Amino acid sequence: PIQACLFDLDGVLVDTAKYHFLAWKRLADELGFEFTEKDNERLKGVSRMASLDILLEVGNVQLDEASKIALAEKKNTWYVDYISSMDDSEILPGSLSFLKELKQYGIKVALGSASKNAMMILNNTNLVPYFDVIIDGTTTSNAKPDPEVFILGAKGVQVSPEYCVVFEDAEAGIEAATRAGMRSIGIGSQGTLTQAEHVVSSLAEMSVEKLQRIMTRH
Ligand code: BG6
Ligand code: MG
Repeated sequence: PIQACLFDLDGVLVDTAKYHFLAWKRLADELGFEFTEKDNERLKGVSRMASLDILLEVGNVQLDEASKIALAEKKNTWYVDYISSMDDSEILPGSLSFLKELKQYGIKVALGSASKNAMMILNNTNLVPYFDVIIDGTTTSNAKPDPEVFILGAKGVQVSPEYCVVFEDAEAGIEAATRAGMRSIGIGSQGTLTQAEHVVSSLAEMSVEKLQRIMTRH
């Protein structure tokens, strides 16, 4: 049976994708090109600097490294401003009750996020107490699809990868889970996240009983 659940943050537990989009769009506006919600899909799960590279590719803009770092910092200042007024109303449906149920059953819970702002989001939404271990963009050096973030999470809760399941809304995150030797559940619409073992539309569809049932190997 599953002994640990590892959660991505943005787009799985909280609705922060809209703030990332607002901030990236504001940057594109300033640089003088259009950045659509469809373009934004490509940024899901991707690290801050890799996201900027995709954005600049969309706008066909070439810049040196120093200018890129300055732009990434600018975007982050806006993003932090947006998320600084977040509260627990922005926790996605089903997240809290599932986290509580996992605790009741003694299943370990870890965070595996690419974001360097994860702690601020967890603090503002009062989610910190639900985690046994928190691994984020400040504690990892290799971004998803590298498995580092989930391997560190599993080590932290002392559960072997085969008994771990990762919840992710991004292809890069599902690939990271697979490369870590873990099980995976995609959060998204059917037909997306094709590499995930199972896809559910949100954590509102999850319970411990269902988790153990769908994770039983046939
Ligand atoms: C991921 C998001 O969780 O974190 C990405 O899905 C984001 O969109 C990445 O770029 C890095 O976040 P931050 O907060 O460190 O810029
Ligand atoms: Mg995500």
